[in-house]
Amino acid sequence: MANLKGKKILITAGPTREYLDPVRYISNDSSGKMGYALAEAASRAGAGVTLISGPTNLSRPKCSKFIQVVSAREMYTKVMKEFPKADVIICAAAVADFRPKNIFKGKIKKGRARLGSSPRLRKYGVLELVENPDILKDLGKRKFKNQILIGFALETKNLIANAKRKLAEKKCDMIIANLNDVIGRDSASVLILKGCGYIKKLENMAKKEIAGRILRELTSAPL
Ligand code: CTP
Repeated sequence: MANLKGKKILITAGPTREYLDPVRYISNDSSGKMGYALAEAASRAGAGVTLISGPTNLSRPKCSKFIQVVSAREMYTKVMKEFPKADVIICAAAVADFRPKNIFKGKIKKGRARLGSSPRLRKYGVLELVENPDILKDLGKRKFKNQILIGFALETKNLIANAKRKLAEKKCDMIIANLNDVIGRDSASVLILKGCGYIKKLENMAKKEIAGRILRELTSAPL
């Protein structure tokens, strides 16, 4: 087990929900299992863990501080408040890239769809979206010299090329790249890529085990 005594680790986990009206939202199938496993493993290794989580069905893991959020913008605000205190930041959340442009106060009625900002769009009930902030990318720009930043990459093709691009573009020290069929499952196959060019493959392993291996990479080898 990695020794993380005295280290402060900030972890994001789970999906975000982007509400359109009081009863409907855009989200994804993320279970939060990877982020929660990391929180649990880091706490057991002696770290002070702050977990910022979107809505999941999981119970609170062992951690020092647990912050629940719903939307990407809420997660962004909480992360930006907490990150200056962290030695290591791990972004395992499956943040929704887009949110509805308009949030309606009342439930949108089928017969009177008010979606779309122009009469032409309203005619077809077009849902307009705007981009959410990229939390990991902004952390890459803002992080202090001694802070370690770890991201995840969910890819359906060109796994290594895309993961390397995210590692560089988001200024991460490490990226955990996995294929899209890991969502919601207890196990996964992942590639660990580091800024120094190191790549390691972990095949068909329980997420709890992967969490331990990620933390070991953090402490045992150059980044
Ligand atoms: N991420 C984030 N904020 C976002 C989107 C993603 O912090 N708005 C983080 C995720 O937590 C993850 C990493 O960025 O650590 C990569 O997420 P992924 O969905 O694989 O990639 P995207 O950046 O969304 O890029 P693309 O859609 O091109 O795959």
